[in-house]
This record gives sequence, structure tokens and C-alpha cells, in this order.
Amino acid sequence: MNKFIFSYPTKVYFGEGSAAQALNAELGRLGETVMMAYGGGSMKRNGIYEELNELLTKAGKKVVEFSGIMPNPTYAKVQEGAALVRAHHVDFILAVGGGSVIDCCKVVSAQAVLDEDIWDMEYQKGQFPAAGIPMGAVVTASGIGAEMNAGAVITYEEKTWKGPIVGTSASFAVLDPAYTMSVPPMQVMSGAFDTLSHAMETYFGTSDSDNVSDDVALAIMKNTVVNMRRLLKNVNDVQARSNLMWDSAMAENGILKCGRLTDFQAHQMEHQLGAYTDCNHGQGLAVIQPVYYRHIWNDAQDKFARFAKVVFGVDSAEAGVDALEDFVKECGLPVKMSQLKSTVEITPEVLRKVADTCSIISSNPRPLSRDEIYEILVECL
Ligand code: NZQ
Ligand code: ZN
Repeated sequence: MNKFIFSYPTKVYFGEGSAAQALNAELGRLGETVMMAYGGGSMKRNGIYEELNELLTKAGKKVVEFSGIMPNPTYAKVQEGAALVRAHHVDFILAVGGGSVIDCCKVVSAQAVLDEDIWDMEYQKGQFPAAGIPMGAVVTASGIGAEMNAGAVITYEEKTWKGPIVGTSASFAVLDPAYTMSVPPMQVMSGAFDTLSHAMETYFGTSDSDNVSDDVALAIMKNTVVNMRRLLKNVNDVQARSNLMWDSAMAENGILKCGRLTDFQAHQMEHQLGAYTDCNHGQGLAVIQPVYYRHIWNDAQDKFARFAKVVFGVDSAEAGVDALEDFVKECGLPVKMSQLKSTVEITPEVLRKVADTCSIISSNPRPLSRDEIYEILVECL
């Protein structure tokens, strides 16, 4: 184990009715003006907006709205949110949505109390926010696990860069599986694949096999696969969605990463693919990850063999990669770049730019060269 500090800033309210339970318990501490932040309107159609708005207004809160947070949130949207917080003297931010809304709000929260540009502060000065407007997260689409950490992933359009930025952690998170029942099946699978990806990328990042996070990561992978298969039989299986919701939080709440290196090279490729194409995160990973693993399984044979056996019940490292690829197909997720919804045609030239700009991870199984990254991406075409 490497040296680490671990703390848990987020109180989780899980299960049916937990939004009312959380808000009733927390509202007293929230201050007078609450900014309710959300995406493109799904929560107005499924009744979540009405329910939360009623709880806030009944408690005498003044509600300010911040809407239209897009999937793959942009830095411009972050600045819009921060300006709104300042203009209305917002005391508390309630982020209601999937990873995009929650990520955007984490950075809005930190930016709103800074008198300098947060991107420059982090990327140029290497300094990170120490404070922010308090916030809570209500998860309406699970998979990303953004609700229990301070990290966000934001697209800076002018720089054609999609990358990590540290914001504020939610002081509480609401995880009610019923809130996810209106998420379209493809988004449910994309999110769940991201959970699987987070656990895999953590697991393959270190060569040691006897640490507890490997065992927990494998359990999360196995459980995610089992419950995704349940959803293939019945997409409205609320118990399976509930299981996946906790898998999602568990994979990204930091506990798997204690004291160890992680890989996340597939994520670096996908994030830059997202910067150039605005593609869906989980679907981009579903295309890239099996191809990436064909390139590296030989460098971590024992780990891949254990993954193959525990997660897919097959007997060799290579068979594990085959099983992962078959599983992507079984779930109806894209297997080729041409199946991704993209703002531009995905050509070898675009992929060269992705390969030349994405971050390269130096930990296990091995660092890739830019040319090999390009090769991997072109194999995905
Ligand atoms: O915008 P609305 O209308 O709400 O529709 C959303 C959106 O179109 C819809 N949705 C959400 N809840 C719904 C619903 N539709 C019907 N019923 C509901 N209850 O789902 C669509 C996708 O939402 P989004 O938030 O974009 O999805 P996801 O949760 O997959 O988040 C993706 C973002 O998270 C980043 C990704 O890169 C991407 O930008 N990530 C964040 C991480 C983190 N903070 O730890 C780590 C990840 O690796 C990832 O990079
Ligand atoms: Zn992810």
C-alpha cells in the first residue's frame, strides 16, 4: 500500500423516498436561497422537479434555477452557473441529474467563491479550491458515481480539451433508484458500463494482487455484470437498478483507489474523443476499452486471468478480453466508432488529434506511446 489520506465528506441517503428524507433533514442548514441545477428537462417530464421544488418552497426557500446543463458539460456553462450564484447570492446548490449536472455544479460551487479563473488556477498554478458554496446532489441517472467525490470532468471547448478539474464535494447525496426509472435503456447501459470501466481501470493500475481494493473492485465488476444482465431481461427491474446505483457510487467514491496506482488510460482516450466529438462517455468507453485491453493483456497476464475467471467465469487472460467484448455486444452498446453519436465524422485525422492530445498514464500495465494510442483508436473505427 502507498501512503494515503482518506476522508468521507458526503452523507448518502439511499432508497425510496430518500429525497424527501434528505431535504427535510438538511433544509434547516441550507440557507435561504437555493439554486436548483438541472439538465435538458427530463426532470420536468418525470415529476422530480415538481417534487423537489415543492419540498424547497414549503420550507420557505427562495429557489433560483440553473437549467440546460448539457451532457459533457462545458466550461462556459460552469461560468454561467457561477455568475448566477453570485448575482442571486445563492447559499446552497442542489444539483439534480446525472454526472454532467453534478460535475458542472461541483465546479460552479468552487468558481463562485474565487476571484480568479479556476481553470488557470488548477492547470497553470497547480492550486486547488479550498472552499465553495455548499452543495447537495440528487442522482437521477447512475453509473458515473460523481456524487461522492470532488472531481469533475469538464469540456473546455475553445481548447478542445475534456479533462479533470477539482471542485467541491456534495455534503449529501440522494440515491433513489426510482428516480432512474425514466432513464432511456441505452443511457442506463452506458452508465453501467462506465461503472464497470471505473472498477477495471482501478484494478489494472497496480501489479500487486493481494490488496483489498482488488478484491472489492472484482466484486463490483461481477455485480455490475450480473445486474446489467438482469436489465437485459427486464429493463424495469428496480432491484437491479438499485444494485447498479450502489455499484456506481462504490466504484468512484475513492475507496477502491486508496493506497494504489490506477490506470484510467481508456478514460484519457475517451475524454479527448469526447472533446472532439461530444460522444457519450460510457459508449465511447465500450468501444475503446476491449481494443485497449487487446494491446495490454500480455503485460499483466496474471491480473487479466483473475479478472477473466472472477468476472466472466472464463479460463485465460485473453478469453477474458473476448468475454468483455462479447458482453459489450450483448448489452447492445456500440462496438465501433461509427456507431457513436458524434458532432463530426470520426476519421483517422480526428483520431490522430485525439491521440496527440490525450493524457498518458505512466502506471501499470504499461505506458502507451502516442502512436500506439492512435493504432488502438484506428482499430476502433
Ligand atoms: O439533460 P436531461 O434532460 O436531464 O437528460 C439527461 C441526459 O440527456 C438524461 N437523464 C438524466 N436523468 C434522467 C435522464 N433521462 C430520463 N430520466 C432521468 N431520470 O441522461 C442523459 C445523460 O446524462 P449525463 O449526466 O450526461 O450522463 P452521465 O451520468 O453518464 O454523465 C456523463 C458525464 O460524467 C463525466 C463524463 O465524462 C460525462 O461528462 N464523468 C464524470 C466522472 C466523475 N465526476 O467522477 C468520472 C467519469 O469517468 C466521467 O468522465
Ligand atoms: Zn467514467
